[in-house]
Amino acid sequence: MTAPSTSVTIRRAAPNDADRLVSVLVEAFFDGPVADWLVPDHDDRRAVYHRYFTLALRHGLDHGHGHVDTTADRSAVAIWYPRTEPRPSAPPEHQAALEAATGPYAPKFTLLEAMFDAFHPREPHHYLAYVAVDPSGQGRGVGTALLDSYHRRLDALGLPAYLEASNMRNRRLYLRLGYRAGPPLLLPTSGPTIWRMWRGPAGATGPTVFPATEPQPRRRA
Ligand SMILES: CC(C)(COP(=O)(O)OP(=O)(O)OC[C@H]1O[C@@H](n2cnc3c(N)ncnc32)[C@H](O)[C@@H]1OP(=O)(O)O)[C@@H](O)C(=O)NCCC(=O)NCCS
Repeated sequence: MTAPSTSVTIRRAAPNDADRLVSVLVEAFFDGPVADWLVPDHDDRRAVYHRYFTLALRHGLDHGHGHVDTTADRSAVAIWYPRTEPRPSAPPEHQAALEAATGPYAPKFTLLEAMFDAFHPREPHHYLAYVAVDPSGQGRGVGTALLDSYHRRLDALGLPAYLEASNMRNRRLYLRLGYRAGPPLLLPTSGPTIWRMWRGPAGATGPTVFPATEPQPRRRA
């Protein structure tokens, strides 16, 4: 198990951090079962991921939508979305931008987003859409420090958090940070298992149960 890092300075990211943080996202997510499923061709993957995460980060940095945290050395990034009110429907430009970014791989990206949306809890919470640490700095407590910092804010507000974990190792990290696992999502066409996870509000009496979720119509952050 990783020793918690006490020397990580966390700050809110700004637009001039974007280039560096997109690289962190691309490199951190480059390998793994979800990447193999989304963009099997390694030659295409870096360019597709670069365009996709540029879109994702730009959306997160838009203060009307999200909150992006990073470290002083910009080696890590977490993109959060407050989901404390019912979300408006996705603007039609989102799908066009997704297709432009992902080209021939758009159907799987669209399916992944649609499944995440459909099984999203309706209870007020903050959603951790992405967390990534540059591969050269992983396993040293940076990810834990980054998430601890945001969890402290949520705990002060009495708000839960929700995320989808893409593998068992990440699932273990989130369990250590106070999340519990809910029913998994199984992606079709030989896709990997995704673990839906919920961290209850601080001060809740008794065990926090995973919120019931029924598939809902498609919406975006
Ligand atoms: C997941 C991630 C953000 C964790 O940040 P980190 O700084 O490496 O994590 P910490 O050092 O604070 O904690 C280590 C724990 O993170 C988890 N972890 C997941 N992937 C890891 C990796 N590639 N390297 C190290 N730890 C990883 C493990 O639970 C690990 O504990 P263990 O060593 O006992 O298995 C980071 O490893 C990463 O960017 N991974 C690739 C992208 C990713 O999977 N993001 C999450 C999507 S759900």
